[in-house]
Amino acid sequence: MNKVLLYCRQGFEKECAAEIAEKAAALGIFGFPRVKENAGYILFEGYQPDDGDKLVRELPFASLIFARQMVAVSDLIRDLPSDDRVTPVVAALQGALKKGGDLRVEVADTNESKELLKFCRKFTVPLRAALRQAGILLNHESAKQPVVHVFFIAPGHCYVGYSLSNNNSPFFMGIPRLRFPADAPSRSTLKLEEAFHVFIPADEWDERLASGMYAVDLGACPGGWTYQLVQRSMMVHAVDNGPMAPALMDSGQVMHHREDGFKYRPTRNNVYWLVCDMVEKPVRVARLMGEWLVNGWCREAIFNLKLPMKKRYEEVSQNLSMLAALLSENGINAQIQARHLYHDREEVTVHVRRIWSASGGRRDER
Ligand SMILES: C[S@@+](CC[C@H](N)C(=O)[O-])C[C@H]1O[C@@H](n2cnc3c(N)ncnc32)[C@H](O)[C@@H]1O
Repeated sequence: MNKVLLYCRQGFEKECAAEIAEKAAALGIFGFPRVKENAGYILFEGYQPDDGDKLVRELPFASLIFARQMVAVSDLIRDLPSDDRVTPVVAALQGALKKGGDLRVEVADTNESKELLKFCRKFTVPLRAALRQAGILLNHESAKQPVVHVFFIAPGHCYVGYSLSNNNSPFFMGIPRLRFPADAPSRSTLKLEEAFHVFIPADEWDERLASGMYAVDLGACPGGWTYQLVQRSMMVHAVDNGPMAPALMDSGQVMHHREDGFKYRPTRNNVYWLVCDMVEKPVRVARLMGEWLVNGWCREAIFNLKLPMKKRYEEVSQNLSMLAALLSENGINAQIQARHLYHDREEVTVHVRRIWSASGGRRDER
């Protein structure tokens, strides 16, 4: 397969395209993106016949910011006959992959696709049976095998292909389905919850999102992010001039500091988490996060970078490079990941984890 299909938020196709072109080229894979404005996906077509297969193997999905999913696909299947849509799809997948462990029949995340999604749900059942019979899908679901994707862009028109289970989004349409907790003070709470799902492997939650940890929340009001930390039984220093939700304050786990988040400094040396949702210029926020990490004032940080109207990919890349350089110059070994989350609009969410400090800095124990 020579193409990859990348799902993204509607309106962010250009960012997704600029990113894949740059990151594919860095791997020596050259091609061109095909972009339709507001489609909610883009295609990257490589010049070599197996460039799609190569990309899903070699380009770490976690390194992509604007893509919600990455699937190797073949040419568009057009005009599926309405009396038998299954056979051409099965034929197109023959020999394309090692046995699949799961099937996802999907659409782009747009209003226009909502009707089509209902069809996808129904179509999944007979298609799954036929793929199993043809030996393309295992008879039982397996999270370790490739995922078979069928992506409808219009009735009767779809791309078919696969993603690799160790290098894809585990979520249907690349979107974690989260329920808004009725007692949370703001919808923003879902951003931090999604960030935990995307950046922290589930089997590490008990260790890295542990009860009793100390956290600092900069720009905390009314408390949606603090709510997530309190739910995980952490102690939170919430920094903001605004009012915090009274129920959160009643938990006894929150200390409210009416201060400027850029000037606040931690009052204890065992803060594990720093989270920050201040609406500010991305470069100011990135520098502040760098300062916290370099000084060892936290071990992990999750923060938003608000995006400008234009050149959004360039702006994010520059800020991430600046942060990476700052950490590296100061001997801090860190993992940096950024993602345009489902619950993000004009912003991306960044996660930084300090691994160890090569020189100076505070002890790494909690
Ligand atoms: C998007 S809201 C945060 C929402 C919050 N994360 C939640 O889930 O409820 C941004 C907050 O940042 C605060 N803020 C902006 N600049 C700040 C600064 N320099 N210092 C402290 N707070 C700041 C604002 O007062 C506002 O409450």
